[in-house]
Amino acid sequence: MTKKPIRYAFRSVSEMEAAAKSNLPDTVFAYLNGAAEDGYTDERNKSAFNQWSLIPRRLLGIQYPSTAVEVLGQSFDIPFGAAPVGMQQLFHVEGERATTLACAHFAAPCALSTVSNLSYAEATKEATVKPWFQLYPTDNLNITKQLIKNAEAAGANTIVLTVDVPVLGKRRHNARALLQTPDFSHLQFGNLEGILSNTDAIHDSSMNWDKLAYIRSLTKAKLIVKGILHPEDAKQCIALGIDGIIISNHGGRQMESNYSTLEALAAMKPVLPSDFPLFLDGGVRSATDILKAIMLGAKLVFLGRPICYGLAIGGRDGVQHLFQMLRNDLLRNMQLMGIADIGTITSSQIVRNR
Ligand SMILES: Cc1cc2nc3c(=O)[nH]c(=O)nc-3n(C[C@H](O)[C@H](O)[C@H](O)COP(=O)(O)O)c2cc1C
Repeated sequence: MTKKPIRYAFRSVSEMEAAAKSNLPDTVFAYLNGAAEDGYTDERNKSAFNQWSLIPRRLLGIQYPSTAVEVLGQSFDIPFGAAPVGMQQLFHVEGERATTLACAHFAAPCALSTVSNLSYAEATKEATVKPWFQLYPTDNLNITKQLIKNAEAAGANTIVLTVDVPVLGKRRHNARALLQTPDFSHLQFGNLEGILSNTDAIHDSSMNWDKLAYIRSLTKAKLIVKGILHPEDAKQCIALGIDGIIISNHGGRQMESNYSTLEALAAMKPVLPSDFPLFLDGGVRSATDILKAIMLGAKLVFLGRPICYGLAIGGRDGVQHLFQMLRNDLLRNMQLMGIADIGTITSSQIVRNR
């Protein structure tokens, strides 16, 4: 019997969040939605989008807006996708495989975490377009090298190096504690099997620009740095031959009182070469959030927690529902704004509230 497509009636990310909350064990939902300390960075990421207003243009007769984006030699049908999130089998048994297939279905950008439950190779076996591989710089460069080699051997052509976790932020709901509970002690870290011993650390507090230059020299793949907030750091990435940056504060999970990612983007865009690819994550919850980030200079936008709401609701079908909903909302908002093509958008229709 063929599988009928599941129809969900969720009309917003917040409705999906409420459904995920009721589907997941309390401990898992607290881990997913948690942030560092009192959570102000996470709140600021979200509220920053309301500090900007959109100015529609009229009478442009936009019947078929295009959401396609070309960047780093890759083509995407929609300008938003999945941020790397570790341990996705906490949310659905299919874990990272479900996210990969949902992204592939929409030709959406997708990044898979170093600390995935399924290895990159397992998660992407059936995907014709391979996701980006997110790399944590471990404290042992041989392990870092091996992680890159394994991902490349499995088809990854873009590496996303996360640099905002020299040490883990102070989070009340910590993953290690969760994995020690009987319900989840069976989960594995597929990418780390056989290459990371108990004495090696997944996070490297000595990570610095010299090591970044070395990691750059290790791979011919595109190398994107994730976790940049300061324009001077972005300039230094460009000087080292980095191909793009993801403006991110790890969804507010690392530090209290960080700059919101949208404000960081608005500050960074004017002082960097105009063609340098900037990406953003953090607090993106609607199509107008996506539009605002793109208008302020992001080429692509990533979502972290909302992908996991989709997984918790229905695995691949749940993530596809999220993409379908946001895609429809984006198309409608482009028509309402008089925007024909997301790839050629400018900042002429957005203003900061006074
Ligand atoms: C449960 C969870 C796990 C995460 N794991 C990783 C990870 O393994 N690697 C990484 O670079 N970022 C990780 N992140 C951060 C996301 O990639 C992204 O920066 C953040 O979730 C974006 O904010 P949003 O959740 O508001 O969309 C994680 C985020 C969450 C919520």
